[in-house]
Amino acid sequence: MGISMQSETASDSFKSSQRQLPKVIGHRGAKAVAPENTIASIRAAKALGCCWVEVDVMLSKDKVPVIHHDNTLSRCTNGQGNLWEYTLEELQQLDAGSHYDEASGFPATRYPGEQIPQLTTLLQCCRDLDLGLNLEVKHVTQHAPEVPSPREQEMEEELANVVCDTVEDFGVQPSQLVFSSFSRPAIAVLRRRLPHFSCAFLVEDIPDDWEEFMAAHGCASLNFGWPHPANTPAKIEECASKVPCYVYTINDGEVARQLLSLGVSGVFSDCPHLVQQALARSGLDTSITPRGSDETVAARGKNVNAQRVTIREAPWTWDSLGVELPDAQILSDLRRVVFIEEQNVSEEDEWEGGEEECWHWLAVVDGQSVGTVRVKPDGTIGRMAVLKEFRSRGVGAALLQRAVCKVESLGLDAAQLSAQTHAISFYERFGFLVQGAEFEDAGIPHVRMSLNFRDRGG
Ligand code: G3P
Ligand code: MG
Repeated sequence: MGISMQSETASDSFKSSQRQLPKVIGHRGAKAVAPENTIASIRAAKALGCCWVEVDVMLSKDKVPVIHHDNTLSRCTNGQGNLWEYTLEELQQLDAGSHYDEASGFPATRYPGEQIPQLTTLLQCCRDLDLGLNLEVKHVTQHAPEVPSPREQEMEEELANVVCDTVEDFGVQPSQLVFSSFSRPAIAVLRRRLPHFSCAFLVEDIPDDWEEFMAAHGCASLNFGWPHPANTPAKIEECASKVPCYVYTINDGEVARQLLSLGVSGVFSDCPHLVQQALARSGLDTSITPRGSDETVAARGKNVNAQRVTIREAPWTWDSLGVELPDAQILSDLRRVVFIEEQNVSEEDEWEGGEEECWHWLAVVDGQSVGTVRVKPDGTIGRMAVLKEFRSRGVGAALLQRAVCKVESLGLDAAQLSAQTHAISFYERFGFLVQGAEFEDAGIPHVRMSLNFRDRGG
């Protein structure tokens, strides 16, 4: 009984942050797109539409918390040996970007100058980008044992204490950050020091004592690995019926869909945009709702639950499918309402031709098409239109994410668009920068903006 009572407490303590956690969380930033655990990776995750990211934190020789996954430096930097044998200054001399370029086959100029970030730099970046953070407090062994040696325990407790100090000093809000750890001693410190922050119990295979440990420490979720022979569908279903569960590392949309259907709350992914797209195609939540205060989320919910928005590709075809309207009809109806009727754009300016060569998408809410965007073969994003009553609810953001992903998949260096000047700050949130002076198009002031994928990490 004690366990079930305390499990309720754990779940309750999780609710405040769970409300804002999406189904797809960027793993080490967006590890498949940029060098893991770097500022470039965090920016990439944001540009790909993430509202939460996960990173790993460790301690340098001079006791500064830094963002890095492995205990050793060789996989992700040009350094060697254990990270904790180097001071912050020494660590920051290392190149944390080129390994990615080499592994990905891109020219080794794509992420020059990436460093191992300090935790404070990372916290500032997440604050600037309005990203929620799952901060994994690392263990110092390869596989965290249930009972570490006294020296290991001391190191993990020390790290947890320094992390708590930093998070407190930085004024991080509990709605902006959740902790996780494989280290049981670290979890004990995190829960004791900062009980108002949620903390996940992180495991590879789900141990027999998971409920007992979570209850004893008031852990908010169970985060486990997949695939793992011990984490069977039946076991996953059982755990997910009792506590929120998050699974790592899921880079296949169909696997994510199956895990969600077993009841897990979300997944960590190296390519969060691809998993989100696959979930959207399967009709599941696309997790596009930008993170905000509870009030903001509630206000969004007044007319439409933004999490129910799905984005589907809509080829410019006039062939009708059964009783459905042809996609080109739906696309052009939306553009007519927004551009021609609302913004007084002329028919001639609106229908400039070439639609068949472009990619088009529709945003659908409860079966109704409410927005559209297109991408030209040269990487120009345009004709972003959202019906008035569906604005400010994440629909435009979801459309833009899809369009940016398309441009990047074309292998182009940058995405371009002409923004109506009132929307500049919206596009800036996704990393677009104004290029050149204002100009008029169809009688409306515009500026050119571009998102340079090469610069994006900078
Ligand atoms: O928190 C999920 C995941 O990051 C845990 O494993 O080894 O990638 O840090 P790892
Ligand atoms: Mg991690």
